[in-house]
Amino acid sequence: MFAPAVPVATAPSATPKFLTCALDSPWKGIRGNLGSARTLRWPMKERRWTRKVGPCKVTAIFELKPPPYPLNALEPYMSKETLEYHWGKHHRGYVENLNKQIVGTELDGLPLEDVIIVSYNKGDVLPYFNNAGQIWNHDFFWESIKPGGGGKPSGDLLELIERDFGSFEKFVGEFKSAAATQFGSGWAWLAYKANRLDVGNAVNPNPSDEDKKLVVVKTPNAVNPLVWDYSPLLTIDVWEHAYYLDFQNRRADYISIFMEKLVSWEAVSSRLEIAKARAVGREKEEAMRKREQEEAKASESEGVEMYVDKNDESETE
Ligand SMILES: [Fe+2]
Repeated sequence: MFAPAVPVATAPSATPKFLTCALDSPWKGIRGNLGSARTLRWPMKERRWTRKVGPCKVTAIFELKPPPYPLNALEPYMSKETLEYHWGKHHRGYVENLNKQIVGTELDGLPLEDVIIVSYNKGDVLPYFNNAGQIWNHDFFWESIKPGGGGKPSGDLLELIERDFGSFEKFVGEFKSAAATQFGSGWAWLAYKANRLDVGNAVNPNPSDEDKKLVVVKTPNAVNPLVWDYSPLLTIDVWEHAYYLDFQNRRADYISIFMEKLVSWEAVSSRLEIAKARAVGREKEEAMRKREQEEAKASESEGVEMYVDKNDESETE
């Protein structure tokens, strides 16, 4: 299991429609603190479905989502040729491989985020994990950059960066360092961590506002911060296939261009708002669950209640 280097939340894509189905073993409890353990919700928008038998027996085909801009739109900072290979070959390969791997298995029919969590298997990864993680990571990466990107964020995002890293410049230094020092293939991330201890996916029993903070983490291969229940806000792909055609082995130059000319701070800000709203929603759910447990406990200890009719009492006197 890969522990985050620095104490660091999901920005699941907003989807308008969901199917919900009851979970049976072995998935019950695996999602644990990611949300309701009893139900999973999956987006209908991005998938094609083949219903087999019953409400949960469906076959999902993951689709290759195109970057949200033309393949030459990031030039001269990221070439069309790089995108043709990176998106058109590598990203496509992960999608095709996962669809072949997952068909007919118990994971078939789960949304991508759940395939990632389940197949991460607390660090002892299952065969589907790498392809599933890489699909999610690449979708997230393409949306992390844009033509005319770079510069500096503003508003709540900038305030939080300055609070948690000291300054924007210190954050950039930390992010660049994480990206440069990830040995071999992997990713660097800015993520929002809410109510999570720095130990596995443990829930903080005494959360405070200071626990909700931005962190920089790096991950090897296909791992992403979803496996720690953090909400990713920004990522850079530091697999060689991401930069070799444009920068050869000069990873540091690729990272600098990414930060100065490509980052979409609008996307990062939107993800932060979603992550904060999610954290608040989960705190409310947690508070409601605790209250229900306490009420159930109290009613158990009170025993059977007896009611006496006052009229009956006066008649006997
Ligand atoms: Fe990549």
